[in-house]
Amino acid sequence: MKKISIATIVLSIFSHCLYLGANNYNPETDIYRKVDSLMSLMTLDEKIGQTIMYSGDWNNTGPYVNSDNMRFLKEGNLGSMLNVYTSKGTRELQKIAVEETRLGIPLLFGYDVIHGFKTIFPINLGIASGWDLEDVEEVARISADEASAAGVHWTFAPMIDIARDPRWGRVSEGSGEDVYLTSEIAKAYVKGFQGNSLTNENTILACAKHFVGYGAAQAGRDYHTVSMGDNELRNVYMPPFKAAIDSGVETFMTAFNELNGVPATANKYIFKDILRDEWGFNGFVVTDYTAINELVNHGYAENEKHATELAINSGIDMDMMSGAYRRFLKELIIEGKVEETLINEACRKILIAKFKLGLFDDPYKYCNEQREEETIYRPKFLEFARKIASKSSVLLKNIDKTLPINNKLTVALIGPLAKDKKNIIGSWAAAGDRNGKAISIYQGIKEYLDDSNIMFARGCDIESNDYSGFDKAINIAKKADKIIMVLGEDYNMSGEAASRTNIKLPGIQTQLIKTIRDELPNKQIILVLMNGRPLDLTIEDSLADAILEVWYPGTSGGLGVADILFGKYNPSAKLPITFPRNLGQVPIYYNQKNTGRPISKENPTEDYKSNYIDSPNTPLYPFGHGLSYTTFKYSEIKLSNDKLKESEILKASSTITNTGDYDGHEVVQLYIRDKVGSITRPIKELKGFKKIFLKKGESKTVVFEISSEDLKFYNNKKLILESGEFEIAISPSSDFEFNKLFNLILN
Ligand code: BGC
Repeated sequence: MKKISIATIVLSIFSHCLYLGANNYNPETDIYRKVDSLMSLMTLDEKIGQTIMYSGDWNNTGPYVNSDNMRFLKEGNLGSMLNVYTSKGTRELQKIAVEETRLGIPLLFGYDVIHGFKTIFPINLGIASGWDLEDVEEVARISADEASAAGVHWTFAPMIDIARDPRWGRVSEGSGEDVYLTSEIAKAYVKGFQGNSLTNENTILACAKHFVGYGAAQAGRDYHTVSMGDNELRNVYMPPFKAAIDSGVETFMTAFNELNGVPATANKYIFKDILRDEWGFNGFVVTDYTAINELVNHGYAENEKHATELAINSGIDMDMMSGAYRRFLKELIIEGKVEETLINEACRKILIAKFKLGLFDDPYKYCNEQREEETIYRPKFLEFARKIASKSSVLLKNIDKTLPINNKLTVALIGPLAKDKKNIIGSWAAAGDRNGKAISIYQGIKEYLDDSNIMFARGCDIESNDYSGFDKAINIAKKADKIIMVLGEDYNMSGEAASRTNIKLPGIQTQLIKTIRDELPNKQIILVLMNGRPLDLTIEDSLADAILEVWYPGTSGGLGVADILFGKYNPSAKLPITFPRNLGQVPIYYNQKNTGRPISKENPTEDYKSNYIDSPNTPLYPFGHGLSYTTFKYSEIKLSNDKLKESEILKASSTITNTGDYDGHEVVQLYIRDKVGSITRPIKELKGFKKIFLKKGESKTVVFEISSEDLKFYNNKKLILESGEFEIAISPSSDFEFNKLFNLILN
């Protein structure tokens, strides 16, 4: 093999550019020039090689594929790898790519850094519950810092699929049901991962996934069919992806699902017409894991060769794990079924990303063992993770000031998750340790209580029919002043391929809390829940005095949760997703349509109305709900005008007063309803939020600025604005009635 020194070529172009003078130096065009020059040396096989990604097999994030990855790597026909990390491991592989292949093109290492890399933060649904965009950005920044120090260049995140069905296990990975909240969070993740410059050693490429509609899988079953009209697609499922582009996201991932009969991975409408042509996205698109091969199972491709043709012709640049581009692209070009220019474009986009990361300047810049050692689990990251665990925990119920707990009291701590250090970091926990690094709730509580004030009993398992632990649990409960029960799901019960048809607490956990309540009708029970989806908590809500939803709170989770239980942190999180009363209400979400027969609040069971005969329409806990130890009073909403002209700004304000006994944060939410539209509009839509801090007795006026941009929506593929009446409210949750209007007047 004749080895060309790529470094020499690149350096000579680079020095030439510098001679053009600082004013003429444009790093973007400079990269394009370098890529062109490199591509002029590449064979078709080498170009195809750049479009191929195989696993390094350190983790399994899909079915095992015997890819013969090392052979292709050594031959210079492998552009990227996933599921490998550590500076040492990636250095070894990079060395092969750089030193043993003809052109020495560096590998790109991708990994699922979803809610942390080693320092694991709460699951994404929990992070979203904080409604704090600066926090989201910081979580992503720390994740990028750790991951990049361990050789990772690219995260397959953020996952920004709107999800309205709690049966779907991947609700845990997203930011909930709402378009606006998810879009804002999408931008913050992208900013955090990619930073100001990808050439920095601690920034990584982000990936907006899964494009598109994955969260709408029928019946909440993973990978299942998705069928929806264009208006819903554009008004609900697509905006977070557009927001990610606006924030500069470099890559996109296809979804596993079909959309209206065409699998996403071969869907020209979404990838060519919308992503490229309408939105002008010029980064690269990777498939989801083996998604090209799966086009055959979908019944959309005759065989894997046909699947390859369909995918590349739909604008999909990189093949993750199917091996299809490697096996069939060249043949398809020779047969004239695929234009070679498509391979050139795909290869070019991938090389641009590698250049942007600075891998051609120093392919080992992410493989610095010393930096890895200094960065992973940095104390300030763990401290921040503790704060985020507190800020993500939603206080769903708290009667008679059950919480916070006075640390002089004696507590019975009961439940299968109370001492857990494995589940607490949740699913998709990247390289996070499940072997004892995380801090359990028990350990967190011990920071506040003397040994003599805490008793523990497991009670039962997460999932089993073994009642033998009930007696001990009852015994310690009898001796305690307050009872804390830590119940929930195993971490594997949410995440990918973890759909459930039953969203109650698994096993006999509900019987455990019921038995304790029956034995001790007057003792206060605090239920702490760890789970990856909205659960049906109707029974638990009737049994517990306080309920704290902590999701899976992460590596420092036990400390963050204890900070809330003992009042060091006053809870401020709000639900980013609706909790139903029962599974039959699903899908249930706050911004539904009105229907022709809406129920009235006064008579919700009226016949021939859009209701159930065996359940209220209302959820158990609505979107935006979350209590604090203090109370907030909202003044009547004030508008700067009762008309909004197309080019003007309308100001809506409300004064919020802390009327309780604690200082605290409040997430103030702005909702709007477009009363009449050329297509029906939701009964309310979140259009803004602000998180404020108020000392006891303090008041602040929160002002939202509304422009006509906020009132646009898609109809028939066009983003339109329609004049007319809009209702508006500023509220602590989505559960309110509108009582204010303004008029939009078009120019
Ligand atoms: C998931 C993706 C993930 C990929 C790589 C797939 O199974 O759907 O979200 O990024 O695996 O691990």
